[in-house]
Amino acid sequence: VEVLKTKAEVKSLRSVFYKSNKTLGFVPTMGALHNGHVSLIEKAKLSSDCVGVSIFVNPTQFNNSIDFEKYPKTLEEDLKKLQNAGVDFVFIPEVDEIYSLKSNISLDFGHLDKTLEGAFRPGHFNGVGTVVAKLLNIVKPDLAFFGQKDLQQLSIIKCLVNDLSFDVKIIEVPTLREKDGLAMSSRNLRLLPEEREQATVLFRALEYAKNELLAGENWLKVKENAVRLIENQPLARLEYFELIHPTSFTTLDALENLEPAAICTAAYLGEIRLIDNIYVKTGESL
Ligand code: PAF
Repeated sequence: VEVLKTKAEVKSLRSVFYKSNKTLGFVPTMGALHNGHVSLIEKAKLSSDCVGVSIFVNPTQFNNSIDFEKYPKTLEEDLKKLQNAGVDFVFIPEVDEIYSLKSNISLDFGHLDKTLEGAFRPGHFNGVGTVVAKLLNIVKPDLAFFGQKDLQQLSIIKCLVNDLSFDVKIIEVPTLREKDGLAMSSRNLRLLPEEREQATVLFRALEYAKNELLAGENWLKVKENAVRLIENQPLARLEYFELIHPTSFTTLDALENLEPAAICTAAYLGEIRLIDNIYVKTGESL
């Protein structure tokens, strides 16, 4: 795997791909790669001639400085995984390479960045939108791959790409889970053993709620039970558990006939904040 550090290096390799008429799939990451990332890469390889990955722990999307400082860094293992996965290049810029000048614009995604993650992590989606826009402009991929685990991020990115006419197709890849259901996430590396054990409650609560809803139970009742399930874990501190429309992120009180729906949740396990979601019904828009 070719390691690129500067925008200039990416530009020159990109032009080689253009000249040989090769399509480029791109997987942006913050490193600490796990099998979820590998599944994004595999999907990218199936649909593009060449695949590039970026590893950049983007400071502007962290609303919590401790979370930023302690974000897991496993560069050597990451490079081995990328090599094994057969990635063509990895772009690993320094902060100054991406943010050489102070950014003056800020992005407003309307309701999408004010609810759920947006409400609990002020400024987070402005940081995500800014860095994704920069990376797409630097790498100029044909396709870019993002995980369903960050469902609201995915919607934000689709909105960014659509509203600002980026010439890239955004592909969603399903969440990969550990055997006990915990959604794969780089932050799982920071869970202490007891927190790790109790973290499985998120997926259990999501599955419970999905099944009850599909069986016709009332959402408010289902939500109450699911919230209780999570709060019964001594190390869990729930932030939200909501039924939403998976692209507009409007909250729903019930499943609506032809509309897709997902349940999204966020909770701290000890000091570590985890998110997860599950589709209840998928619609044609997905
Ligand atoms: O999902 C992530 O890892 C990050 O939010 C992303 C999309 C790489 C932007 O920094």
